[in-house]
This record gives sequence, structure tokens and C-alpha cells, in this order.
Amino acid sequence: MSVIAVLGAGKIGEALLSGLLHGGRKPGDLLFTERHPERAAELTARYGVAGVDVPDAARRADVLVVAVKPQDIDPVLAELAPLLRPETLVVSLCAGLPTSLYERKLPEGTPVVRVMPNTPMVVGEAMSAISPGRHATGEHLAVVEELLSCVGAVVRVPEAQQDAVTALSGSGPAYFFFLVEAMIDAGILLGLPRNVSEQLIIQSAKGAAKMLAETGEHPVTLREAVTSPAGTTINAIRELEKHGVRAALLAAIEAARDRSVELGKG
Ligand SMILES: NC(=O)c1ccc[n+]([C@@H]2O[C@H](COP(=O)([O-])OP(=O)(O)OC[C@H]3O[C@@H](n4cnc5c(N)ncnc54)[C@H](OP(=O)(O)O)[C@@H]3O)[C@@H](O)[C@H]2O)c1
Repeated sequence: MSVIAVLGAGKIGEALLSGLLHGGRKPGDLLFTERHPERAAELTARYGVAGVDVPDAARRADVLVVAVKPQDIDPVLAELAPLLRPETLVVSLCAGLPTSLYERKLPEGTPVVRVMPNTPMVVGEAMSAISPGRHATGEHLAVVEELLSCVGAVVRVPEAQQDAVTALSGSGPAYFFFLVEAMIDAGILLGLPRNVSEQLIIQSAKGAAKMLAETGEHPVTLREAVTSPAGTTINAIRELEKHGVRAALLAAIEAARDRSVELGKG
């Protein structure tokens, strides 16, 4: 079994460590790096995984997962570059950073796989899209797929589509949170207690997501099934259309994609 080191054990890094352990990896096959000794000690106590420094991670790991904030990447790559073994696979979870950045700063031939995960990774329900760099093979992609399947679903996309993925599933959970928040407010407007309104909406969201995932039916079919003639749902749908909710979603996601492109240039 290969040794995996997570560089930067923040929210996403910790979620990955936890998922890998749940998925059956042994604590001895995992490592992490962390700037704050108290945080490192806390993680070791919680998961039994050793906190190491970057040189140690580079020496021991077969797979290095970079999970620092994008703005912290330069010192990490500068430290890694002289230490990296040629066969080490580098997996980037950093939003917006292209594989070409790693390829420029790391030794020639380093295999790099770029991942766009999302926050439901903390509950084992991430949606991760992966793209190979110039030197990553199908075998490298399979390794990353296996690794990320411990914390959710994985899809392969060409790197050119990563800005669209960022806008769709990277930011996606926020759109659902926004929608749920608005629907809970609607319940309060109708006179329901907040806790009841929350329960009604969160369970409805869970149920709807499960139906979409498990029935394989198109969303239109599922919606039509609850939209009876002259009923309540069609009245609500008319208002959603009148207020341009569909067009707003298209424009919002396009704006997120444009911002991702802009940040990538930076
Ligand atoms: N959260 C999301 O929704 C999400 C979604 C998709 C992708 N991502 C990507 O996942 C990455 C991590 O995000 P996050 O939300 O987990 O951020 P985070 O909680 O800030 O975690 C990053 C961790 O890396 C540590 N770090 C920074 N430089 C380091 C270094 N040189 N050596 C060791 N550790 C270092 C940070 O320490 P300090 O606390 O000292 O800074 C922090 O603990 C980001 O690149 C982000 O773009 C996040």
C-alpha cells in the first residue's frame, strides 16, 4: 500500500484524512504536515496519524496531496522541488491552480493531478472532479479516483473544464444553502416556528437529492410528478418563472465561472 501525505491539514485536508481512515487505510500509511504544533498534536491524538515536516513527507510519501490555500502554494512548492522523488504523484486540491504551475516549479516529469473537491467532503459526500497534468497517466488517475472515492463521488474532466466545475459543484453547496435559507424564511413568513420550518426543508432537500440520485429520473419528470393540474405546486412554479429564477441561476453560475477564470490568471 502506498503512503499518502496531506500537505496542509485544514478543513479539506482533515476531511480527507478522516475519509481515508474510514475507507480502510491504516494510520501508519498516512502522514500530514501542519504549521501549528498544537493543531498537529490534536490531529495525531484524534486519528493516530503522524504529523511530519515537508522534507519528511517528500521522502516517505508515494502520493503528496496539496491542501493548502492557493495563496500559500509558492513556499510549499519551493520547499518540495529539491526533495521530490521522480515517481511521487502530486495531487492538488487547490482551487484554481493549474497543473502547469506545479509542472513549472517541480522537477521535470512530475505527475500532477488537479482536483476540484467541495465541502461536503467533511461528511463523506464530496463531488470531486479530477484532471491529469502533462505527465499523469491513466494509472495515476485511477490512484486518485480510488483515494477520493473514500470521501464521495469522483468524475474525470479535461482541465479546461475545471473553471466550469468550480462554478457548478465547487460553489454548488453554497447555492443549495442559499436556497434552503430562503425556503426556511418562507416557512416563517407563513407562520411556522423556525425549527419546524428548518426540519421540513432540510428533510425535503435530503429526500429530493436521494430521489434524484437513486431513481435516475430526470429532474423534470420528478417535478412534473408533483405538479398536479390547478394544484399548489404549479402556482409556486409560475412565481419562480415570473421572477426569473432559472435565468438567475444560469447567470450566477456563469459569473462564478468567469471569476474562476480571472482568479486562475492571477
Ligand atoms: N473548503 C472548500 O470548500 C474547498 C473546496 C474546494 C477546494 N478547496 C481547496 O482546498 C484547499 C484547502 O482549503 P481549506 O478550506 O481546507 O483551507 P484551510 O482550512 O485554511 O486549510 C489549509 C491548511 O494548510 C495549512 N498550511 C498552509 N501553508 C502550509 C505549509 N507551508 N505547510 C503546512 N501547512 C500549511 C494552513 O495552516 P494555517 O492555518 O497556518 O494557514 C491550514 O491549516 C484550498 O486550496 C482550497 O482551494 C477548498
